[in-house]
Parts: sequence; structure tokens; C-alpha cells
Amino acid sequence: MKITFARDEADFDLIAAWRIISQMLLKKDSVIGLSTGNTTKGMHSIVSDIHKKYPFDVSGVTLFNVDELTNLPADYSGTCYSMILREIAGPLGISKGNFIMPPTQSGDFAAECRHFEKQIEERGGTDLQILGIGLNGHIGINQPGTPFESETWISVISPDTDVRVRKDLNLPKDLIIGGLTRGIKNIMGSRKILLAAKGIHKAEIVAKAILGPVTTDVPASVLQLHPDCEVLLDAAASGVVKSLMKKF
Ligand code: GLP
Repeated sequence: MKITFARDEADFDLIAAWRIISQMLLKKDSVIGLSTGNTTKGMHSIVSDIHKKYPFDVSGVTLFNVDELTNLPADYSGTCYSMILREIAGPLGISKGNFIMPPTQSGDFAAECRHFEKQIEERGGTDLQILGIGLNGHIGINQPGTPFESETWISVISPDTDVRVRKDLNLPKDLIIGGLTRGIKNIMGSRKILLAAKGIHKAEIVAKAILGPVTTDVPASVLQLHPDCEVLLDAAASGVVKSLMKKF
């Protein structure tokens, strides 16, 4: 694994943004997997700003998100579809056909999962997958205990996301919000992966994931086995990870 320590948050966002832009510039028909959350907002905004100022050709680029919430209206502001559309796919003018997302509502999610993967595969597979990390080490929505052989499926979202979404949408108690996520096997099939972690609260789990044993208890630890994975840390996360590195 290659570890990149950013100087500060601005540096972190800029480095990550250039990883995405470089991919788009180097391969006109790149297939890029994104992630939503606080970690990736800044990098999406920089990619969008640079594209606005210096428009480069993205007509052949395909974007998708690694995961999606299910059983909610797609236009709810908290779905991954809405976030990616707002933060990057919309500002870049990515066409509908090149913005691949599974539906948020369906009577057959197993078929949707297969279709999502098929679409990615038909375009030659993932060139670059950007990943965040959950405090329990999850990647996408593959929670601890998920087998490394898992393929795109409906997992369980974290309790805090569940509470937030329910509050926002005033959902009936019996409606289960699922987390459609690319499986660990699918994620590992990406040619390049960037695992991005921002903030001191992420430092310990990142250290476990990159320095500890490869175990399904920490899903992100599987990335140690990937041939081209970069871990990007901001200054807050870097300090703790560097000191933990000495102990390992
Ligand atoms: C959610 C998303 C993940 C994301 C993670 C980290 O669980 N499904 O894809 O990586 O949150 O979010 P944040 O960057 O807000 O900490």
C-alpha cells in the first residue's frame, strides 16, 4: 500500500481531486467509482471547480457510487444518487447514460445488484474506486463480518445513518432502509483504489486497517491485499497513524 500524508485538509482535498482528474485525463472513457460523505465532499467540489474553470472532456467518463440507500425516494437529498449528482456528476455535466446508479426503490434488488455490476463490467470494469472508511472499518456498506467474497448486495446501514434518514423523512417504523453496496470482491476488482480518511476520529481504525491483520472484522484491512491501493490521510489522521506505525 502506498500511504500519502497530506499537510492539511485543503491539501487532502486537492490531492484526492487530482487523483480523480488525472484518471479522467489519462483515460477518456474512465470508469470511476465514488463515495459519499464528509470525507469526499471537498474533493468533489475541487474537481467541479477545476472543470468549471478549465473545462476538460468528460463525455466518455462513467461515474457511479460504491453504495446507495434503499427504500427511499431517489430525489431525497441524502441518497447517494442525489449527493453525487449535486456534488460532481451534475457540475461536470456527466450524461444520464454515463452516471450509473442502482435504483433506490425496487421489487427485486438482487436483480438490480446484478444489473449494476453488469453495467460496470460492460464498460471494462472500474479504473479507480474512491473509498471512505467507517469508524468500524466498513468500506462501501460492507460492515464487519462481511465475507471478502461478497458480491454487490443489500447490507445493513449504520444506526446513526438510520436515525438521521428516519428523522429527515419521517419514515414509518416498519420501513427498513437497506444499504445496497458493491461487495468486497467487486471493490477489490478495481484497477486502482484510493482509501481516503479525514479527521482524528478515523486515525485508529485506519491504523488497524493498514497495519493490523487482514480480517473480516475490519473490512478495510482487505485492501492490504490489493496491488494498487493508495491510502490518503489528512494531517489530523496522519499524526496518530504515524505514531501507531512505530508500535507495529
Ligand atoms: C457511509 C458511506 C461510506 C462512507 C462512510 C464514511 O457509511 N456508505 O461509503 O465511506 O459513510 O463517511 P464519512 O466520510 O462521512 O465519514
